[in-house]
Amino acid sequence: MFPKIKIIASPKDKISSAFLSGISGIKTPDNFPEDDMKYIEKRLENETECSVYRHPLLYFFSRTKEHKKPYYLAEHARTAGHKFYELLKGEKINSLQIMDNSDSNLLLPFLEGLLLSAYSFSKYKKEKDNYIPAEIFVITETITTEQLSELENLVQAVFHARDLVNEPLSFLTATCFSDEIERLGKEAGFTVEVLNRKKIEALRMGGLLAVNKGSIDPPTFNILEWKPENHVNEKPVVLVGKGIVYDTGGLSLKPTPKSMDYMKSDMAGGAAVVSAIYAAAGNKLPVHIIGLIPATDNRPDGNAYVPGDIITMFDGTTVEIRNTDAEGRLLLADALSYAKKYDPMLVVDVATLTGSAEIITGPHALVAMGNHQDYLMKMKNAGEEVFERVVEVPIWDEYAKPLKSSVADLNNLGVREGQTSIAGKFLEHFTSYPWMHLDIAGVAYFHEKDGYKPAGGTGFGTRLLYRFLKLLN
Ligand code: BES
Ligand code: ZN
Ligand code: ZN
Repeated sequence: MFPKIKIIASPKDKISSAFLSGISGIKTPDNFPEDDMKYIEKRLENETECSVYRHPLLYFFSRTKEHKKPYYLAEHARTAGHKFYELLKGEKINSLQIMDNSDSNLLLPFLEGLLLSAYSFSKYKKEKDNYIPAEIFVITETITTEQLSELENLVQAVFHARDLVNEPLSFLTATCFSDEIERLGKEAGFTVEVLNRKKIEALRMGGLLAVNKGSIDPPTFNILEWKPENHVNEKPVVLVGKGIVYDTGGLSLKPTPKSMDYMKSDMAGGAAVVSAIYAAAGNKLPVHIIGLIPATDNRPDGNAYVPGDIITMFDGTTVEIRNTDAEGRLLLADALSYAKKYDPMLVVDVATLTGSAEIITGPHALVAMGNHQDYLMKMKNAGEEVFERVVEVPIWDEYAKPLKSSVADLNNLGVREGQTSIAGKFLEHFTSYPWMHLDIAGVAYFHEKDGYKPAGGTGFGTRLLYRFLKLLN
């Protein structure tokens, strides 16, 4: 269920309302008692939001605040949208309107914050916690119906990413992940090809197969494609996502329960790729995009790969395994080599790759590196616009040294210090085109809700990739 959103010409009477104001002048309802007006104006001198409750209606007022960096304005509006949602939820209000007088295009981010807040993962609960207002009327002079439906589609895509991350391994095995991707492909209009174990073996994807050895479930390799007739890019953009549906660490078992607790989220990169393509296809973005998602769980069963093993990757590179918990880079490497066949304009991989990415940024940004400064700059800009901020770390040649091996071309571990860059350096070995790596380990999954980002899967990466793809066109 999703609210019905509709632009109307003039405001309705007797309906809960939000009033968005710009820097100059606060917009209030026409027939409000003077006392209320005075109260609101007083409150808004020092604060940016306030609300008045007149049974059974709720009135919410929000004004902008000046920010040194303009993109904070939009984030401020998203946060206000979230506050409004919480108040609506408290009163279980079903029908509401938003009056846009913000003179700076704050309506879209306000609505985005409101809609992104309306998520719950209640599939397995008898008592569902899933309040969503049924209808939202919008009075605006700046926003079009097309912009609204683009936003709705994007928020739906984020919800799909969150759902996929929140689904436990008891449901979401690699095969089931592929079924879900096919379902979403049908819904949004992109094509999906799923390579099964036999095909993956025939292709000799040694990285993916090694990680899968300890699992009783087969791996899959998912190929998504969105190629509209009017695509503007001659060569495709390839998105690669890590699809570890559960990471126990394998035989190099994760050391504490805490470090394993939420490892169902280790396919969040894959989820971000699926949902970004879902949004691109749903909104008919004129960009040719291919998604590659290698998927399996990483487990220590009887036949599991072991430290000391030497494996041969899809491109023929040999890798000495030093730690079976550094598994993500192995399947990503195979997908990155596979991407060469598309002669891509750019490849972006997205992965919950290293715990140290979380140490670098906390839950506030994702970590990027790559070999193409223009694209990195575009990604950082996109990150500011959607407030999924991007921090670049170096990928200097020195980081290749710890990846040397005396028995193989590479080892899969390196050293602890600088691990996020070292993992990126490992991936770089398998690239031969413009490329960027996004490590989302710090942002993919939240233990506590933070405004419009819920506890559990956050859907981080979806809005970023979508905006980035839009900037390309
Ligand atoms: N999936 C983990 C990384 C991770 C950690 C994601 C925390 C989300 C939150 C990855 O496969 C992993 O285990 N990485 C190891 C690599 C190490 C063994 C070189 C890590 O970061 O500790
Ligand atoms: Zn791991
Ligand atoms: Zn992992």
